[in-house]
Amino acid sequence: MVGKIAPSLMCVDLLNVERDIKLLEEAGVDYLHVDIMDNHFVPNITLSFDFIKSIKRITDIPLDVHLMINQPEESLQYLDMLTAGDIVCIHYESTIHIHRAIGMIKDLGVKVGLALNPGTPIGVIENLLPDLDMVLIMTVNPGFAGQKLIPSMLDKIEKLRALLNEKGYSEIEIEVDGNVSFDHAKLMYEKGADIYVGGSSSVFSKENSIVENCKRFREIIRS
Ligand code: DX5
Ligand code: ZN
Repeated sequence: MVGKIAPSLMCVDLLNVERDIKLLEEAGVDYLHVDIMDNHFVPNITLSFDFIKSIKRITDIPLDVHLMINQPEESLQYLDMLTAGDIVCIHYESTIHIHRAIGMIKDLGVKVGLALNPGTPIGVIENLLPDLDMVLIMTVNPGFAGQKLIPSMLDKIEKLRALLNEKGYSEIEIEVDGNVSFDHAKLMYEKGADIYVGGSSSVFSKENSIVENCKRFREIIRS
């Protein structure tokens, strides 16, 4: 099985975005992971809906939009630039009407992801499975790049893959986000992850170029 790379655009060189996007295209990445934060659901503000509009003008790489915002259903109207291959991922913890919010994302004609904070048990997804394309396991507490992996999240990946398969939803993909370093990516791959958010500790690591880092990453996430 070959994993998919979703570089985190909050880690690009914000003074050279187009240059880095072209390098990510050259590297053949599968998604561009766009973190949107509201300074309420998480104590930070990063990229924006206007940033997404600009990215859409310069690349065809599918977008993986990670909404770390409260009441995301109130902001879906600003994502009308997205197309069928894109993903919109919202947090289980960000609205009391999670089932309705997921339905609203489906109405946009894009893929649906559900993100779980480290403290949220995987059992909460059971009634939402029919509408999901992907489940995002946060392997750090959301909000900032450069944090350290929470080790217990590795077993959470394995338990989620077992739950999805047991319930007959083996096609739902598992995405991991947070300190997905080269070493951690190998462990996550062994636990059953499918999509890897590459940030400061891998794709954008200063050890090498973006293209070299992606090449090394791809060799790790394949059997
Ligand atoms: C957390 C962010 C980060 C970012 C990647 O909310 O979503 O995970 O994408 O940053 P690193 O790879 O540095 O953790
Ligand atoms: Zn993210």
